[in-house]
Amino acid sequence: MTNDFQTWRIDAPGQTLVLASSGGIPGALYWGAALPTSLDVSSLAAGVARDVTGGMIDVLPELSLCPEAGNSFQGQAGLVAYRDGVALHPRFLLTEADGLRFVCRDATEKLTLTFTFAVEGDVISAKTTLDADGVVALHHLAAPVLPGPQYGEDILHFTGRWIGEFQLERSPWRAGLLMREARSGRSGHEHPPIAYFPERGATNTQGAVFAMHYGWSGGHVMYAEELPDGRRQIQWGHATGTRPAGAHFETSKLYMSASETGLNGCAVAFQRHLRDRVVTWPHPERPRPVHYNCWEAIYFDHDLQELKAIADRAATLGAERFVLDDGWFGKRDDDTSSLGDWDIDPRKWPDGLTPLIDHVHCLGMVFGLWFEPEMVNMDSDLARAHPEWVLGAVDQIEGRQQRVLDLANPEVRAYLYDKIAAVLSTHDVDYIKWDHNRLLPISDATQAEGVYALMAQLRADFPTVEIESCASGGGRIDAGILKHTQRVWLSDSNDAQERLRIQHDAALMLPAAITGSHVGPRHCHTSGRVHDIAFRAWVAAQRHMGFEMDPRELTEAEAQVLTEVTAWWKANRDWRMAADILRLDSADPSVLAEQQMAGDGTQFVVFAGKAATSAQIIPRPLRLTRLDADADYKIELINRSESHHLSRREMPLKSGPLTLNGQFLMQHGLILPWSFPDRMWVIEGRRV
Ligand code: DGJ
Repeated sequence: MTNDFQTWRIDAPGQTLVLASSGGIPGALYWGAALPTSLDVSSLAAGVARDVTGGMIDVLPELSLCPEAGNSFQGQAGLVAYRDGVALHPRFLLTEADGLRFVCRDATEKLTLTFTFAVEGDVISAKTTLDADGVVALHHLAAPVLPGPQYGEDILHFTGRWIGEFQLERSPWRAGLLMREARSGRSGHEHPPIAYFPERGATNTQGAVFAMHYGWSGGHVMYAEELPDGRRQIQWGHATGTRPAGAHFETSKLYMSASETGLNGCAVAFQRHLRDRVVTWPHPERPRPVHYNCWEAIYFDHDLQELKAIADRAATLGAERFVLDDGWFGKRDDDTSSLGDWDIDPRKWPDGLTPLIDHVHCLGMVFGLWFEPEMVNMDSDLARAHPEWVLGAVDQIEGRQQRVLDLANPEVRAYLYDKIAAVLSTHDVDYIKWDHNRLLPISDATQAEGVYALMAQLRADFPTVEIESCASGGGRIDAGILKHTQRVWLSDSNDAQERLRIQHDAALMLPAAITGSHVGPRHCHTSGRVHDIAFRAWVAAQRHMGFEMDPRELTEAEAQVLTEVTAWWKANRDWRMAADILRLDSADPSVLAEQQMAGDGTQFVVFAGKAATSAQIIPRPLRLTRLDADADYKIELINRSESHHLSRREMPLKSGPLTLNGQFLMQHGLILPWSFPDRMWVIEGRRV
């Protein structure tokens, strides 16, 4: 390679990334809205060249894909590694480039860095590989580093907790570092590996936005740094210092999206990418089945006759998959014992699981089963036989009375494979709920690699079995785990009001088809609240719908509502499970609303959930989005019968379908009937 200035462009729908190099590591010259295909991107150099005081950089590009401490870069370096305890300060030179793969070498330090880019549907993926001559200890390796937007004021990132997943945080760009790091050994409730970088004034539906998602389940780090000279850099990688020393390292893929249509542009790109490119569906032709999960109905108290009666009622309501949750193995009467002993408990199941499975099949449902393979109770035959398979110090603090098995050990994986395969090969199991309820005692990337390997082996040998990723609810949701799974259990909160909010914010990443959502008990077990059945049912119907209460608690009137909503869900699932979820900019902060839009734009459904009492009396209009301004739409409030008698205002929407113009719906918006909080309006729209 020569030291001449060179440029390369990578185009994905709606975005262009231009890389440039003049010898050393290439860097981003431009990342944003799609550039005209006819543009000669080398001409962009003139527009961005600048003289930076302090001698930090005076050549393009502004930031390299791996900023190097050895090149006087004083921010966070993209590579921090040691050989024999001595810090390495490489200065790489580009040796090969084909536009998607860039190889850089430091002959003195004997290191090779490779950056690989790919266009995957609507997103651009990027990853970094480090190869060393001899062993090095790696502290940090960044996926290709990109500049943060100069017009951005805030960073939207996520925090969360058990039963409170996907909470949006807004932090200002300011001098220094915003660092998010998941050191729990999973992508985690606390630091979901995704962030948005909006430009000033961007909303859900308008404005320029950049977004990134790091597809790794073992804990990650994000740096969003503003340097003293004003440049901004964004880095993602595995959590620092979590890999064993070695000679070859790879980051996970970093997924990038740039939008001119607000947060929704990036959200839709991620939703489509996960649904259509990352997840592999065991039965792509099969509609997503309505779930029933027995956890909140019976907990550990398994009884065949009770479960049969529950299954009867669940099937009548419309369930199509029956899931037996925790408690069927070992001597698992509570959470103190038996994790690791994956043999059917003969006390609870004297004739095995087959009588229940047969019953479920007779009702026209498929059967699913819970496992928590990576975990072990010290009160288990497994821990007694193999204490050396348990990770962490003997006197470690336990979480949920359990410890973690060493999945990096092939013997442990073989044991777990044999146990799970024994159940799958002797029972007709359609689905596994794969749980993970405690943090690693010490964060270690090889654990997640072991989990992926075990899942991959099971998926290869049992390709028709779907897997759900659950980790105390939504503690392991990322593109890495979704390569091996098809559904996420977004939260253990079945509180419809909380779930409405969690779903709304998780839609910045997750499509409906992979987001589980269940109708919980009348008295919510995690919040103590009571919500009526219509609200509970509609919130679950926003995503991959299921039930998770003892269905025998439902009154006839409640059962009728749930049956009707479930029937509506089934009638619309084919297009809705492939739809885009567009978050709406609600003028009333108590209303959380979204528009699910069919791929061809001919139909949509709006869910407008009221999560609190409004400040004002009359409902504010709700603007829709991405409609054809010139087209008319037939609009129908399909649950208008839920209108409260205190909603006295005469409005046509309450009495039947209306035809309204697209521009009007986007500019003025729809005024919905007044309602109490904890209610959902559901509006269907169809282009006429
Ligand atoms: C935690 C999960 O999030 C719950 O849904 C349930 O499966 C329990 N574990 C079972 O122990």
